[in-house]
Amino acid sequence: RFFSSDLDGTLLGKSDSCEVFHHSWNGLEKSRLPLLCYNTGRTVEDTLSVAKKNCLPEPDFIIGEVGTRIYNAKEGRDIEEFTRTLSEGWDLNLVEEVMQELNLGQEPQPGNSQNEFKSSWYLDNANLEQISLIRMSLEEVGVEANIVYSCLRYLDILPKRANKGHALFWLLARLQIKTEETIVAGDSGNDTAMFLLRGVKGIVVANAQPELYEITSHLPVYHAEGKEVYGVLEGLEYYGVLK
Ligand code: GLC
Ligand code: MG
Repeated sequence: RFFSSDLDGTLLGKSDSCEVFHHSWNGLEKSRLPLLCYNTGRTVEDTLSVAKKNCLPEPDFIIGEVGTRIYNAKEGRDIEEFTRTLSEGWDLNLVEEVMQELNLGQEPQPGNSQNEFKSSWYLDNANLEQISLIRMSLEEVGVEANIVYSCLRYLDILPKRANKGHALFWLLARLQIKTEETIVAGDSGNDTAMFLLRGVKGIVVANAQPELYEITSHLPVYHAEGKEVYGVLEGLEYYGVLK
């Protein structure tokens, strides 16, 4: 009933996603068509334009900015009730202060990658100790955060109720769709939270980052042989959505 897919490295990449995904998805009978959600680190605005440019089908929802915004595409607006859940335990100024005091060599990402509920940094080849140090330093000042690290480079610090998985879970509950009726697809660290939702059916594409393989190797997910969009289509076939 619901398909939540990452974009970069998953539906978008070197392959010509344009033809392939659009064709298969729109070829489905309307009555069998799951709701489509792009679940991405990009902003909602950027997602809409990149989807159009790459001829990806119009989504029903966009979970944007690493699970800090849920956008209802048919209504053309954010679901504010979700945004309101994010303030609990969160203080952006404190997060920034803590990060500035840590000397890990991190650099802030540009302004359009930041929002009220997302503090994003570049930090190359971080190890577990560094991530724990960040976690502990935030705990010490009473900030309840999710730390998301992807591709050995991108570091996102998010409120405890934000990330791709929490946002998806919130949306599914609102739509009264079970996790068992949901397929997720992804390729990197910021996707792991989607795969960790109990009951979801997962597709990991062949070009996935080691951090996603590590977490999903013990989970009942489909590890595709195909890369990017071809891996997604393979998984959708495996789960019987596509023929
Ligand atoms: C996207 C976002 C960036 C984030 C990364 C990983 O590239 O623009 O801010 O750090 O995804 O989640
Ligand atoms: Mg990705």
